[in-house]
Amino acid sequence: MPLRKQINTGKLPSHVAIIMDGNGRWARQRGLDRIFGHQQGVNALREVIETAAELGIRYLTLYAFSTENWGRPDEEVSALMEIMVQSLNNETDTFMKNNIRFKAIGDIDRLADDVKKRLFETINLTSVCTGLNLVVALSYSSRWEITEAARRMSVDVSNRTLKPDLIKEEDFEKYLTTYGIPDPELMIRTSGELRISNFLLWQLAYTELYFTDKLWPDFGKEDFYNAIIDFQKRERRFGKTSEQVLEK
Ligand code: IPE
Ligand code: IPE
Ligand code: MG
Repeated sequence: MPLRKQINTGKLPSHVAIIMDGNGRWARQRGLDRIFGHQQGVNALREVIETAAELGIRYLTLYAFSTENWGRPDEEVSALMEIMVQSLNNETDTFMKNNIRFKAIGDIDRLADDVKKRLFETINLTSVCTGLNLVVALSYSSRWEITEAARRMSVDVSNRTLKPDLIKEEDFEKYLTTYGIPDPELMIRTSGELRISNFLLWQLAYTELYFTDKLWPDFGKEDFYNAIIDFQKRERRFGKTSEQVLEK
C-alpha cells in the first residue's frame, strides 16, 4: 500500500515540529561548501510545507536558526540570512495562494533590518490566511525563551499586575513565544543526531520524538509520511496507565 494511504487522516498530529539538521554534512559529502547544503535544504523545506498543507496539519514549526548558530563563521551566518530573505521573497505569494499563515518565533530583534522587514511583510501579508500555520524558529533557543518569560513575568510581579502565589502553568505559558499554539504532538529531527539542541524544551514535554538518519536536503514527502505513520502507531499515555488510556 502506498505510504500516503497508510496515514489515518482522522488521527493526524495537529502540530509537527522539525529540527532540520544535516545541511552541512550533505554538502561536505559531495565535496561542496556547507552553504550549498543550506541552499539545497530549501527544496526539502518547500516539499515538507506542501505536504503538511495537503494533509491538513494545523501547525508546522521549523527550527531554522538557533541562538547558538550565531556563533558560526560570519560567512555562513550571512548566507543563511540571505537564503531566508530570498526564500521569503520567492514563497510569500505561494503561502497566500495556499492559505498558509506565517509566523516567526525567537529573538527577532537580533536580526538585521532587511531580514526583519521581510519577515514582518510576510507575517502581515499572510495574517488573513486560515490554513496551515507555519511557524519558523529563528534566532530561537528554548533557554532564551524561558529566561525571557521569567524576566517579563518579574516585571509584571514588580508592577503588581501578577501575584506570585497565584502563578500556574497556564500563566507561565502566556509569556512564551508559542502562546496560543498547541504543544507539538510529533517532533522530527533529521541527520541522526539524538538530541533536542535547545528547541522547545517546555513545549516538548509529552511530544513523540522521531529521529531519522536522512540528512535534511534528502528529506522528502515519503519521509514525512513515514514519521506520521510511526507516530500513529504509538500509545500516548501522558503519565497514565495503558488500561486507563484504552478505556477512553
Ligand atoms: C542545519 O544543518 C541547518 C542549521 C543549523 C542552520 P547544519 O548546518 O547544522 O548541518 P550539519 O549538522 O553541520 O551537517
Ligand atoms: C539545531 O541544529 C538547530 C537547527 C537545526 C536550526 P545544530 O546543528 O545547530 O545542532 P547541534 O549543534 O548539532 O546540537
Ligand atoms: Mg547541525
